[in-house]
Amino acid sequence: MATTSPLTAAELPAATAVAAATGTAAAPAAWARALASGHDHLLARHDRGALVAVAWLRRAADEAEVLDLAVDPAQRRRGHGHALLLDAAAQVHAAGARRLLLEVRADNAAARALYAGAGLVQVGTRPGYHRDGADALLLAADLPLPRPLPRPPPAPPASP
Ligand SMILES: CC(C)(COP(=O)(O)OP(=O)(O)OC[C@H]1O[C@@H](n2cnc3c(N)ncnc32)[C@H](O)[C@@H]1OP(=O)(O)O)[C@@H](O)C(=O)NCCC(=O)NCCS
Repeated sequence: MATTSPLTAAELPAATAVAAATGTAAAPAAWARALASGHDHLLARHDRGALVAVAWLRRAADEAEVLDLAVDPAQRRRGHGHALLLDAAAQVHAAGARRLLLEVRADNAAARALYAGAGLVQVGTRPGYHRDGADALLLAADLPLPRPLPRPPPAPPASP
């Protein structure tokens, strides 16, 4: 079963390798500084003993921002990104955040679908924000995020 837990120093190389595979991630040294500071929320998701996803959030007063969220490319579309986002949101909510914010590239269809499915909505645009000219979208949601309802059990076979 997959679980989410605070990132440890021993996991930093694996975490930054997952983050680096996204191409947009912060440098490993930035992750190390954030972990050492103890100020930010750094979370790892594990499945069958392997680190499969990482998240980095920062809370200030009643707002929290997702600074990074990355799933190992070999582990995508298995629900890890969604589960980690919900767990991270629950953690910053428990720490006092009432609103979740993040920025996503307008051309990042996978991340936009993930965030929309988790209840985040667009609250702003930064045209041409990225070096290659791509727009950045600002997304937000009130906390807590809604947890999805469990899937209903399969219907019994129809009687003859
Ligand atoms: C975005 C990312 C975190 C999604 O992680 P993931 O574990 O694959 O996502 P999940 O399996 O939890 O998917 C949850 C939902 O997101 C959407 N989604 C995820 N990947 C998608 C894709 N490639 N295309 C379209 N929708 C996608 C779907 O709605 C999906 O639900 P479904 O599988 O029931 O259809 C992952 O693709 C990633 O690490 N990308 C690179 C880093 C990045 O862009 N991070 C976001 C920075 S803002």
